[in-house]
Amino acid sequence: MPKTLGRSRILGTGHYVPKRVLTNAELESMVNTSDAWIRERTGIRERHIAAEGELTSDMAAAAARSAMERAGITPADVDLLVVGTISPDMPMPSCAALVQQKLGMRAVMAFDLSAACAGWIYGLEIADQYVRTGKARYVVVIGVELLSRILDWTDRGTCVLFGDGAGAVVVGPAEAQDVGEVLTTRCFLDGTQARSLCIPGGGSEAPTTAHTVEKRMHLVHMTGSEIFKVAVKNLVSASRSAIEAAGLTADQIDWVIPHQANIRIIQGVSDRVGIPMERFFINIDRYGNTSSASVPIALDEATRTGVVRPGQTLLFCALGAGIAWGSAVVRWQ
Ligand code: ACO
Repeated sequence: MPKTLGRSRILGTGHYVPKRVLTNAELESMVNTSDAWIRERTGIRERHIAAEGELTSDMAAAAARSAMERAGITPADVDLLVVGTISPDMPMPSCAALVQQKLGMRAVMAFDLSAACAGWIYGLEIADQYVRTGKARYVVVIGVELLSRILDWTDRGTCVLFGDGAGAVVVGPAEAQDVGEVLTTRCFLDGTQARSLCIPGGGSEAPTTAHTVEKRMHLVHMTGSEIFKVAVKNLVSASRSAIEAAGLTADQIDWVIPHQANIRIIQGVSDRVGIPMERFFINIDRYGNTSSASVPIALDEATRTGVVRPGQTLLFCALGAGIAWGSAVVRWQ
């Protein structure tokens, strides 16, 4: 292990979304909702839904392949694989095991991380620490969700909000300063509101039975208004804290890549942190809330399309079930 700590940077990004697009107009024929309500209350126009037979691990592997290609590494180079997901192929083994097999990686440490929408930022913090200490050279961090299979399609309060997809990054050593580096990461969890967003059935508290299935306990349950309030508050404090820890001020952030849960939550963060909406990268209209995949999908789009340019400073922030949340400040390569 090196005597002095190094620094890490994001070497490559990738994402994958399924082909099938589900529009608000189609949802109008499924539940008692309207395109106008969904657009005004959330900012969502459409979302992508996985095809029958398409798996969480398939989407994760596709995003990871794209990120590795962009980073110029192969699966054989990877020292650690972290998969942020709450919608794996199956409860056991981990989604990471299935992704590792699909990518043909060496036998290395690989695991799933359960922090819902904050899963990818939690993974970035772990990758940063492993690379800084020299314990790993290349870490693949994936955020992936196939929520369409665990949503209650009769509950208009949740089914209109989410979409399927995967985003991935390769984190590796920053060889020189100022060519892009992870400046800081902040991760938190407050379990006092753990049940405001949960899948109540299928675990040790309520093992799967005909009764739990009949009561739809194997599907996502959410008290949206409770999450909304805490989301703005916690995303604001985490964003301020990351900016300060990076030795910066809000006006030095070129782009915010926020978790795409609700355009009104993003607006609330913009108002309170003092960074105008023009500097927030938004794609919620096309993808909905893809949970842990949301920030890495947006990062990949923002960097590939040239919206984010080399040398710019980025703020990531995300919050979800737990309540788990986090933020990070990164100088782009
Ligand atoms: N269409 C039409 N009406 C609806 C819909 C819908 N799809 N959904 C709810 N409504 C109705 C409600 O029934 C309610 O009607 P009522 O007044 O007659 O009772 C009314 O709209 C207002 O409901 P609220 O829940 O107060 O609506 P709100 O403005 O809070 O928006 C929303 C709801 C979009 C869910 C919002 O609360 C939200 O975005 N919350 C945060 C979600 C989030 O960020 N989750 C965390 C990340 S997800 C993760 O970790 C996996």
